[in-house]
Amino acid sequence: MAVFLLRLFSCVLGALVVSAIVHASAPSATTTAATSTLTGIAATAPTIGPSQQVGRLPALGWNSWNAYGCNINETKVVDAANLFVSLGLADAGYEYVNIDDCWSLQTRNASTGRIVPDPSKFPNGISGVADQVHALGLKLGIYSDAGTNTCSGFPGSLGNEAVDAEAFAEWGVDYLKYDNCNVPGNWTDTSTPPDNDWYNSNSAIRYRQMTAALNQTGQPVHFNLCIWGNANVWEWGARVGHSWRMTGDVSASWSSISSIIAANAQHLDAVDFFSHNDMDMMEIGNGGLTLQEQRTHFAAWAFLKSPILLGTDLNNLNATQLDIITNAELLAFHQDPDVGTPATPFTATASAPTTSPPEFYAGNSSKGTHVFIINTGTMAAKTFEFANVPGLGSGNFTVHDMWAGEDLGTFADSFSITVNTHDTAALLIDRA
Ligand code: GAL
Repeated sequence: MAVFLLRLFSCVLGALVVSAIVHASAPSATTTAATSTLTGIAATAPTIGPSQQVGRLPALGWNSWNAYGCNINETKVVDAANLFVSLGLADAGYEYVNIDDCWSLQTRNASTGRIVPDPSKFPNGISGVADQVHALGLKLGIYSDAGTNTCSGFPGSLGNEAVDAEAFAEWGVDYLKYDNCNVPGNWTDTSTPPDNDWYNSNSAIRYRQMTAALNQTGQPVHFNLCIWGNANVWEWGARVGHSWRMTGDVSASWSSISSIIAANAQHLDAVDFFSHNDMDMMEIGNGGLTLQEQRTHFAAWAFLKSPILLGTDLNNLNATQLDIITNAELLAFHQDPDVGTPATPFTATASAPTTSPPEFYAGNSSKGTHVFIINTGTMAAKTFEFANVPGLGSGNFTVHDMWAGEDLGTFADSFSITVNTHDTAALLIDRA
């Protein structure tokens, strides 16, 4: 728990309310071919955009991979769904229960061409799981790959997009994570695409084919591009899906968490409604992270508006961890209905050192202006000037601690707070 040291310069009474900056733009559902100069596969590749009926806000849910790897089955997935309800996660907004790699047999059905759910793991098929998940008011996610095989060697969907999208729709799938393993040589990118437009790269076109197939079924599906930050995905991801992985796989270590934040902080212009950089799944509950690092893991994913998909056996979460992942004020920032943009780095004071990842972030929500401070080093006082926070200006401000749900007081000119090693302070600031 962070210790707060407050520097109080003066107290003022006032009634000015900082108005929220409302950002209501959304990308259109279809895009047209960029130029007539396109050749080869890019000339004829589908340009249909992702469904606008889902994916406006970053996804909240759970995924089986970090918890179980390939060792999955119906019991574990349905158990996670039931725990969403009994632990209060569903009430907090967690919605998607996602099956990752290893759910199918190695071979497609010879007559239908469909991928076959492994009957020893999923005796009621994927539709049987979907029924149980839907009955709880939740949504079901599945996993496939924009290559010939998944990363664990099961059938991928490249060349079979239509038949697979149709099966997923029929089974009641609401979310597709689409991976990037086992890509045939002719589908890789060996040079920069024409006009440096990565939307027309072979990588993007592999994903665009699945967007079109999903659209064809008429069932809205949240489409996640698991492309590990390749092919400048942040430039075109929103024209193809709702969220896209920015890096390789997360692990339960501070170096992994902090390097993912650093990589993502460079591409925050891409984030808005229907458009989310995916920082990968959560490691809270899997050991390897201090309590403060778990708070930063959750807070940064929330204020950068990444999907938050829990990645542990939910039975293992203790009360403190549950408090972190159900923090109402951070979730409200993440799920804000009126502001789609994330918090972005700012220079806190003239003498603030440059760190990787950046330590100070500011952003808006329906409630006002927020500042988030990640301590990348050892416990220290962290100071910012109100005038340096975009949109605030100088004067007197009230500061509210979003973790504790407590007002900290009224301050003039600047604010200082002691933040523990690798912890994150989360603040709401209002003109006093
Ligand atoms: C990786 C992916 C992981 C997980 C794994 C399954 O490529 O980044 O999140 O899905 O494949 O094999």
